[in-house]
Amino acid sequence: MVVVSVVLGVQWGDEGKGKIIDVLSPQFDWIIRYSGGANAGHTIVVGDAKFIFHLIPSGILHKNTKVLLGPGMVIDPEQLLKELRQLEENNIDWHNRLFVSDRAHLVFPSYKKEDEKLEKKRKKSLGTTKRGIGIAYSRKMLRTGIRIADVDEKDLLSLQNKKDLRFLQEHVDFLKSISINHYSVLHGIEGKQSILFEGAQGVLLDSDYGCYPYVTSGPTSINGVDAIGFPSRDIDSILGVTKMYCTRVGVGPFPTEFAEQESDLLEFIQKKGNEKGSTTGRLRRCGHLDLVSLKYACKISGVTSLVLTHVDVLDTLEKIQICVGYERDNEFLEFPPSQFRQLNEVKPVLKSFDGWMSDCSGITNWNEIPTRLRELMDFIESYVQVPISIISVGAKRKQTVFKNAN
Ligand code: IMP
Repeated sequence: MVVVSVVLGVQWGDEGKGKIIDVLSPQFDWIIRYSGGANAGHTIVVGDAKFIFHLIPSGILHKNTKVLLGPGMVIDPEQLLKELRQLEENNIDWHNRLFVSDRAHLVFPSYKKEDEKLEKKRKKSLGTTKRGIGIAYSRKMLRTGIRIADVDEKDLLSLQNKKDLRFLQEHVDFLKSISINHYSVLHGIEGKQSILFEGAQGVLLDSDYGCYPYVTSGPTSINGVDAIGFPSRDIDSILGVTKMYCTRVGVGPFPTEFAEQESDLLEFIQKKGNEKGSTTGRLRRCGHLDLVSLKYACKISGVTSLVLTHVDVLDTLEKIQICVGYERDNEFLEFPPSQFRQLNEVKPVLKSFDGWMSDCSGITNWNEIPTRLRELMDFIESYVQVPISIISVGAKRKQTVFKNAN
């Protein structure tokens, strides 16, 4: 029997999935990441140590958990080596616990340059991470990309440039040493398994369901799980991770972004929430929690329960505003339009709540949640129609509160 859960972001990425996956990992034999590449960034705090991962699932920090970089991912071997070094420097043995699907595609140095060039060429840039992600996914679709399984395929290699081929030669032995055909892991050939599928970025950056073209290139919704080759009907639970407010990096529509007159609030949240991209170092754009897009993201990906993160960041706010609808041309919209210009034009309908005005960062039990926060959570649950099962009140592992703690 295989027990499978999914953790995915239900905003524009950076929701705190890395910490949640780290906390849940001891319950799972395997963590399998299903999309994206080194564009993602997870910061994990363990005691005094801080780890930043772009490719490796944070489950690697638990010695009994194995991790797989899945077939839907695009892998930059140089970045992967850097992250393995980070583990070794902290005496974490990853051998026989970290694998890459041989169906995953590779990211070559020329892809990063091409990504950068394309950004310069656009009239209005997308604000990509310049990690070559869009190029790798487009090469995959053009069938000119290289998967780890095909590193010796001469016909395919003849389509690459010389520099990239040299790069491949430098990394080929390393890649072969960690690659596997992941079918046996998934379909129980090795016995009973519990597996967690890890999403990357957030549903609102999905190339089909996000606001195209201001999206990433990989699938970030539940559709990404298809790449793994596991039937979605057999998934037991899907956890959607959301912050108590919204952030976005890069360019693109952001209906609840703080207005100019809210610059104090922006500065406060950027500082207290440490809202700086761990991949690019860019300060994140911030805004009010947007229930319209949250409900949309949850519906699309079949989220069965919500994880609320960064709750403590709002501890001292007297009033908390939350978006409960969009207005455009005197029309009330209950879900985001497909066209980015239209989404740019929507005005958020904001509802004001009294803040709980107390320090949440030490809460360890669901019963200790302050009444006003509880009321706000009730409102979110009834709007989105998904129960909240976990709240995160700080970066540390112990600052995680479960509704049904054992
Ligand atoms: P790309 O994925 O580098 O092509 O960038 C496309 C868009 O997705 C840009 O707006 C990026 O800022 C955004 N993006 C990519 N990865 C992440 C992430 O992990 N968190 C938040 N935004 C991301």
